[in-house]
Amino acid sequence: MGYRVVVAGATGNVGREMLNILAERQFPVDEIAALASRKSLGTEVSFGDTTVKTKDLDTFDFEGWDMALFAVGSDATKKYAPKAAAAGCVVIDNSSLYRYEPDIPLIVPEVNPDAIVHYKNRNIIANPNCSTAQMVVALKPLHDRARIKRVVVSTYQSVSGAGKEGIDELWNQTKGMYVPGQEVEPSKFQKQIAFNVIPHIDVFMEDGSTKEEWKMIAETKKIVDPSIKVTATCVRVPVFVGHSEAVNVETEDFLDEDEARDILRESPGILVVDKRESGGYTTPVECVGDYATFISRIRQDSTVENGLNFWCVSDNLRKGAALNAVQIAELLGNRVLKKG
Ligand SMILES: NC(=O)c1ccc[n+]([C@@H]2O[C@H](COP(=O)([O-])OP(=O)(O)OC[C@H]3O[C@@H](n4cnc5c(N)ncnc54)[C@H](OP(=O)(O)O)[C@@H]3O)[C@@H](O)[C@H]2O)c1
Repeated sequence: MGYRVVVAGATGNVGREMLNILAERQFPVDEIAALASRKSLGTEVSFGDTTVKTKDLDTFDFEGWDMALFAVGSDATKKYAPKAAAAGCVVIDNSSLYRYEPDIPLIVPEVNPDAIVHYKNRNIIANPNCSTAQMVVALKPLHDRARIKRVVVSTYQSVSGAGKEGIDELWNQTKGMYVPGQEVEPSKFQKQIAFNVIPHIDVFMEDGSTKEEWKMIAETKKIVDPSIKVTATCVRVPVFVGHSEAVNVETEDFLDEDEARDILRESPGILVVDKRESGGYTTPVECVGDYATFISRIRQDSTVENGLNFWCVSDNLRKGAALNAVQIAELLGNRVLKKG
């Protein structure tokens, strides 16, 4: 016996990946419902070898459904997730709406799987921000060995992190650079994204940081350890899929770069590609469609007492969103609902 599973936001970047990954990992699905807005009613989306017709989230009855993977943005989540949860359907949400609420577990299964028990509080589980998810997969094993005190991270985030409109804007703007009269003004992004980089994701906070940067700090503390200090600079780059991060960590105990490489190599969800030669590292285009978080360029930072640098790349639509949500669904199934 399997589960009755809902994917809300099934026509979006993340929702489509959720359907792909549920099928790829042979999640025990008895019945699937693909939901989106009314304008997408009847749109066909792929689920394994079959296609499913999209239904309207607004009129959907969640009664009798086991779990709902939400990827519809905060506004729609606010309206519909409580409805699903109240009907007994466990919500696994990709928006930022519930991530910081103390009674809602925020889970990366490789890092804090035991938090799953708290799903009971509100029948809702939160999925982290894409940049946080891949980073904490790498931080956790290093923290367990040498206690991380401080993290300095700079991100290089792809346009798919801003949804379908982000992908369209980079594509159309790039084409428009070559076709007179077809120039595309920025609308999803604050400035031109084609052939450019933008040090601004989400809104500005009072202290001059952006909400995206704040999210990485708050989420790392909630998922790994509140004592870890994090400072982040989040940058949008003209890459379609795949987020990259240059990460610097300071630890309490000395951690040799070779030992760090060995630890990361043995850790769940991580693939180390670290040859000190031309091309001996992973770039975002190479991680697309993969499950792993790729770690490269592991090296000592000798400017501080116990410092380490590394490069971290992952498919933001997968580990940063859909894969992590499906892994949470697997955790929920294996540890709690136990139907599959
Ligand atoms: N992209 C990433 O890397 C990433 C990573 C982590 C988390 N997330 C989060 O995941 C969510 C979805 O992101 P995305 O990149 O997949 O966005 P997207 O490509 O723009 O897709 C949005 C999806 O939500 C649906 N939707 C929006 N408003 C709705 C409403 N009022 N009622 C019903 N359906 C509605 C859309 O349906 P229609 O097609 O019918 O409009 C579409 O299926 C967001 O909360 C985002 O912050 C994204």
